[in-house]
Amino acid sequence: MRFEHPATFNPIDQLKVIGHPTSRIEGPLKTTGTASYAYERHDVAPNQAYGYVIGSSIAKGRIAAIDLEAAKAAPGVLAIVTADNAGRLEKGERNAAPLLGGPEIAHYHQAVAIVVADSFERARAAAQLVRVDYVKADGKFDLAAILDTASTPKPQFGGPADTAVGDFASAFAAAPVQLDATYTTPDQAHAMMEPHATIAAWDGDRVTLWTSNQMIAWGADDMAKTLGIPKENVRLISPYIGGGFGGKLFLRADVLLAALGARAAGRSVKVALQRPLMFNNTTHRPATIQRIRIGAERDGRITAIGHESWSGNVKGGEPETAVSQTRLLYAGANRMSAMRLSELDLPEGNAMRAPGEASGMMALEVAIDELAEKLGMDPVALRINNDTQVDPEHPERRFSQRQLVECMREGAERFGWSRRNPQPGQVRDGGWLVGMGIAAAFRNNLVTKSAARVRLDQSGAVTVETDMTDIGTGSYTIIAQTAAEMMGVPLEKVIVRLGDSDFPVSCGSGGQWGGNNSTAGVYAACMKLRETIAQKLGFNSAEAAFSDGVVSSGNRSVPLAQAAGEGGIMAEDAIEYGDLAKTYQQSTFGAHFVEVGVDAATAEIRVRRMLAVCAAGRILNPKAARSQVIGAMTMGVGAALMEALVVDKRHGFFVNHDLAGYEVPVHADIPHLDMIFLDETDPMSSPMKAKGVGELGICGAAAAVANAVYNATGIRVREYPITLDKLIERMPEVG
Ligand code: MOS
Repeated sequence: MRFEHPATFNPIDQLKVIGHPTSRIEGPLKTTGTASYAYERHDVAPNQAYGYVIGSSIAKGRIAAIDLEAAKAAPGVLAIVTADNAGRLEKGERNAAPLLGGPEIAHYHQAVAIVVADSFERARAAAQLVRVDYVKADGKFDLAAILDTASTPKPQFGGPADTAVGDFASAFAAAPVQLDATYTTPDQAHAMMEPHATIAAWDGDRVTLWTSNQMIAWGADDMAKTLGIPKENVRLISPYIGGGFGGKLFLRADVLLAALGARAAGRSVKVALQRPLMFNNTTHRPATIQRIRIGAERDGRITAIGHESWSGNVKGGEPETAVSQTRLLYAGANRMSAMRLSELDLPEGNAMRAPGEASGMMALEVAIDELAEKLGMDPVALRINNDTQVDPEHPERRFSQRQLVECMREGAERFGWSRRNPQPGQVRDGGWLVGMGIAAAFRNNLVTKSAARVRLDQSGAVTVETDMTDIGTGSYTIIAQTAAEMMGVPLEKVIVRLGDSDFPVSCGSGGQWGGNNSTAGVYAACMKLRETIAQKLGFNSAEAAFSDGVVSSGNRSVPLAQAAGEGGIMAEDAIEYGDLAKTYQQSTFGAHFVEVGVDAATAEIRVRRMLAVCAAGRILNPKAARSQVIGAMTMGVGAALMEALVVDKRHGFFVNHDLAGYEVPVHADIPHLDMIFLDETDPMSSPMKAKGVGELGICGAAAAVANAVYNATGIRVREYPITLDKLIERMPEVG
């Protein structure tokens, strides 16, 4: 089904099931430990052996020799696979560096071998006996030191490397008020709870992979390419995922090495990447250096806005698209943005929750705060004054919906923003310096094809099948709500089956596009099923009403169970959007308000209150959506105050590569968080009239924390994270 915009009144708009705060339908499975995650699927393949992955201990160079003799002779060892004996491997389209390294080494902890044994302990013990001799080469590990090597990338996502409108340089030079500041964001790790894990089983030349992956079709496709086998011979199954945040968008070493290990051992093999390997073996959010220049009139009108971002990546990797939001968020006649990319010999940088905007907003929204101070203006008012309802680079494109101003106003009112003292370092509460900060939230909304299959059976139940994934977001539930609404059955009558490459190809989970697009695909399939049922009964399909388990038309009504008949009725369809994304700019908006306390003596920072107001189209399930936003806000606090992968610039690896060394917020770090959604429907987004929310909540959250720290202390830290060592020397004198 092609989406014709604007969406008209349709069965979803009944809002009998959609739009209600519904608990997760798979919740009981998760809270009772019976949802089977990849590594726990002891039942799916008999006689599972265990694989242990060995990572390179150098960052760059080559393997001179591998001695496997001792390991092969170790008890229980079934097979050892290295690049030498793996057979010919291609590189999948979506991995910058090969998942199995050797003889060339592309980065530290790149997998160089898998040892398969009959127990995990024996595989691990034997792995210690594998001797790898490396020839080390010099590598480039320090982004700041090699900015002169940066080139202009051709990003796959996030628009072109450069944009320019008007005459930025002249307008900036002529502006009576100028801000020119540089911000840095560090490398960050996804640090999801469930590690990358796979069970692989071969049946002749066909392989089945029970794994943890956000994008089933991409994964199956790349697996087939890597192994050089037909796509039909690869099946990926991933019904439950313990977090992804972008780290599971693509295949990782566990999938490939489980398949290779199973082929070599002649039995099924299970592999989980051990936690200390994950941080350097897989991907991370790359560090950025961002320079922002803004010129404004004294009345606060922005006349020039420029944003340049430098990032690094392994050869073949993408830039961090940190300038994306600056192209769209504020008005201003003269503009420029630029992304530059340097080749680094660190592990691959790639998408992490809100790639681009999460890092970009950490800089832009502090810059706006700094500009407001220079202007002597309230930062809420400054943002409202520079609102735009059109894409400022392409004024013919309107935003489909844009309620940034409404989010700001509503949030300011609810948070008590008027009580903020604009003079920093003035508010005390006992030993704490207290400050408030604000930032906008902004993240684009992407529309993309998504398919599903629905079946009505003779019990009156509706089964939905799609390769969509649920990475903890609530996909199962919103898909069930959609089918229930469309078919006029209670939620309990819907069965949802996800995450299997045998099912129709969905949009998958990424870029906060999953909620709107996957349900729109289910909508399309349900529309087709409704038509098929109506036709079968001889009803006029335009008049047929589906309600309370009954389909009726005129004075006839038939229970769905009866309509299904013995064989049931099935329909499959996809939602497609044509060039809708070219016609309208689709984005989601919000405002973050934060109050922090900074210990006047120790500079310890505590978040005291946070409020986010979001406008993101129809909210399909306010309970699940709220969870997404407060989770993202929590991640924003991590980005502001804690999270950083520390680069060893001599040897080229992330030093703090476990959950003890890589700090993320825990419950004790997070106060009660509040968030609300503005009432919004977006008829340009899909028949669901919904947009994404999963990433919006992190965008701007860190900047709001940073701005609150400044308001509390008068200290502007432009190098994230804002750890207390960066404050303590500069803390104001207190009595
Ligand atoms: Mo998201 S970083 O595209 O999973």
